[in-house]
Amino acid sequence: MVRKYNFSAGPSTLPLSVLQELQRTLVEHNGAGLSLIEASHRSKEYEAVHNSAISLFRELLAVPRTHEILLLGGGATLQFAMVPLNFLLSGSSCDLAHSGAWARKALEDARKVGSVRLAFDGSASSFMTLPTRQELSLDPDAAYFHLTSNETIGGVQWKEFPDTGAVPIVADMSSDIMSRPISFDRFGLIYAGAQKNLGPAGVTVVIIRKDMLDRCPDTLPAYLSYKVHAESNSLYNTPPVFSINAMRLVLQWVKEEGGLAECDRRAHSKSATLYDAIEGSDGFYRNPVDPRCRSTMNVVFRLPTEELEKRFVSEATAAGLDGLKGHRSVGGCRASIYNAMPTEGVAALAEFMSDFASKHRQ
Ligand SMILES: Cc1ncc(COP(=O)(O)O)c(C=O)c1O
Repeated sequence: MVRKYNFSAGPSTLPLSVLQELQRTLVEHNGAGLSLIEASHRSKEYEAVHNSAISLFRELLAVPRTHEILLLGGGATLQFAMVPLNFLLSGSSCDLAHSGAWARKALEDARKVGSVRLAFDGSASSFMTLPTRQELSLDPDAAYFHLTSNETIGGVQWKEFPDTGAVPIVADMSSDIMSRPISFDRFGLIYAGAQKNLGPAGVTVVIIRKDMLDRCPDTLPAYLSYKVHAESNSLYNTPPVFSINAMRLVLQWVKEEGGLAECDRRAHSKSATLYDAIEGSDGFYRNPVDPRCRSTMNVVFRLPTEELEKRFVSEATAAGLDGLKGHRSVGGCRASIYNAMPTEGVAALAEFMSDFASKHRQ
């Protein structure tokens, strides 16, 4: 078997050792006489997996006891609805930073539920930059301030999170969770779909400050209430057991590789390799993002023509570098380099970029 380097934005590459462990234990889980995906989610076998996934997550990201960790279904997309349903139905309004395609989805759903003010509108700069604290217009009475920590499509990432005073930050961290340390005191809620840095699709992690649970209205249908999930240790209904088990293995792998500090170091080093390849190409490759907020996870770039972009993607695929086509809404190219993308994969891509530019430069 020859595995390609997979630069897809998500679902994305997973550590080979995790895939092999999943394969090894698929038919029988640790001497239980059955597979974990056949076992009751109330069984002691599953309970151990569930609690270990949560405690590894808490340990690696240093989540303080002030915050609960929930494992939900529905993807980050369900959170676009659950956040406003839990915190806006009382009639309050929220602030939101409109930073690109994913923030827009959060905005559109929140507007169906309550009132949303734009604390920042990136449309004027084609979503290629993010605001400084001074450029943010925040309402001190907002129920929360929503931001998207990393725009997976645009390749724009918040490098630090603003001081919002008493207003809790709610963050969609789907594409950069577990890539850098987080200081939790400013965050009322963080959510992330698993299928980038945490595992396969199917589980969504929500980290919620305990006092935010008091705001969840009792009138909500059960699944939509964070309080219901928190009160049942995310076992109110059948959880996505396969994905949670895979996430546990990914987190164990992160721990063995050196934990969050090492993920952070590698993310900076891998993204610097690609940004240097772009900068050093005499304008053959272009990254349109404000250098202040270039993503360490999704490196976007353009070539001189769309024709060359197509050729780049197809020749790269043939060379074993997969998933480099930019999102269909923006075109161009994108290399997603999450935690499980090895340094060697990024080095191979940088070399391919350099060779391709030499061949096709006018
Ligand atoms: C930043 C961000 N938010 C939300 C989503 C939507 O996630 P899901 O497909 O898990 O609902 C994605 C998916 O790529 C994303 O990158």
